[in-house]
Amino acid sequence: MKARCVSLCLLGTMLFLCSAHARGLRRCLISIDMHRIEESFRGIKKAIQAKDTMQNVTILSPSESLHSIKPLDACCMTKNLLAFYVDRVFKDHQELDPQLLRKISSIANSFLYMQKTLQQCHEQRLCHCRQEATNATRIIHDNYDQLEVRSAAIKSLGELDIFLAWIDKNHQGTSDASGQGT
Ligand SMILES: *[C@@H]1O[C@H](CO)[C@@H](O)[C@H](O)[C@H]1NC(C)=O
Ligand SMILES: *[C@@H]1O[C@H](CO)[C@@H](O)[C@H](O)[C@H]1NC(C)=O
Repeated sequence: MKARCVSLCLLGTMLFLCSAHARGLRRCLISIDMHRIEESFRGIKKAIQAKDTMQNVTILSPSESLHSIKPLDACCMTKNLLAFYVDRVFKDHQELDPQLLRKISSIANSFLYMQKTLQQCHEQRLCHCRQEATNATRIIHDNYDQLEVRSAAIKSLGELDIFLAWIDKNHQGTSDASGQGT
């Protein structure tokens, strides 16, 4: 009797933890205004992508890395990619046009804020990192390292739409999966 209760309790805890993980991204990014970030990106997209001369390579390649990421890893992958943009791309990119710079800074500030929010979730164990996310992140850093640093930064900025669309998809996808509206 007692053993059965214990196993039921364990099962309950596991189900709770799993659903917490699956909804991690949604729970963690509750107050993020993605539309504002997308709006800023639309303001730089054309100019940045025009500066990207290496059309034959990709850094965030959705088929190789992001596409294979399961919802369970979405929170961790988002956390890793925010760090990638904050620690490398935004630092490596030197923008001379003040208008573009203002929009890039706005995106960078939103990313910093999201990064802080996800870090808190990570500390509360709601943003678990599995090997899949670690591997996909390494592929992206490897792709970045293969290019000359300024080309790599430009290309990564131009590929922000892939990252933003992917966050959107996972943010909404996990909310559908949990069966709750907004
Ligand atoms: C991509 O194109 C650039 C210039 O157009 C060339 O220098 C580079 O070697 C190419 N890279 C690959 C992986 O094909
Ligand atoms: C991650 O990469 C390592 C080393 O390349 C590999 O051995 C491992 O199977 C990969 N794990 C997953 C879950 O993809």
